[in-house]
Amino acid sequence: QPAAETCDEAARQRSPNDHEPQRDVIPAPWAEGRAAVLGEGPLDAPMMLVGEQPGDEEDRAGRPFIGPAGRLLDRALQEAGIDRTACYVTNAVKHFKYVQRGPRRLHQTPDAGDIAHYRPFLMREIVQVAPGLLVALGATASQALLGRKVPITKMRGEVLSGPGGMPILLTVHPSYLLRLPDEAAKRAEWGRFVHDLGVALQTSR
Ligand code: URA
Repeated sequence: QPAAETCDEAARQRSPNDHEPQRDVIPAPWAEGRAAVLGEGPLDAPMMLVGEQPGDEEDRAGRPFIGPAGRLLDRALQEAGIDRTACYVTNAVKHFKYVQRGPRRLHQTPDAGDIAHYRPFLMREIVQVAPGLLVALGATASQALLGRKVPITKMRGEVLSGPGGMPILLTVHPSYLLRLPDEAAKRAEWGRFVHDLGVALQTSR
């Protein structure tokens, strides 16, 4: 196998194949028959990033965080000095939840039942990878990992005790940054997000 020249290529080359058989057997409450989008990254990754659910692009490609939110995450990771290809990247919910509006598939936020449905599959990934640090990106991931709703804005950027005592750091979801209306807020929130990821890097070392 020739060495990968880009992060994307590297990620494609080392898709964790022992997850593959699960793709078609994870039941989807709303997307019967669709393949699940599982995590990717080294199975000995020191850091596991957990998002909400695959979006439209992720569902089509079968890979996590490759759409607009993923591109923003990539930039923030880079600015924080984190190599994405060294991280395990996954989601709390393994299928894209959406409503069809004409040709468009509009994102729907997963509810507590959806989070509980997928939790065993997320836990299986955590047990397999056993990372030094979990990073919860946004409310859904935080709820899935801590088993309860938590105020992200109050608890972000601190290392807490997560599942089985595993260290966990909560931060915002990159889509939150995409939705901010004004440039000043965007800049400020970008700085805080990169800062949180910097704390994650220091903690996972
Ligand atoms: N793409 C993902 O894979 N996860 C998210 O949470 C958002 C976009």
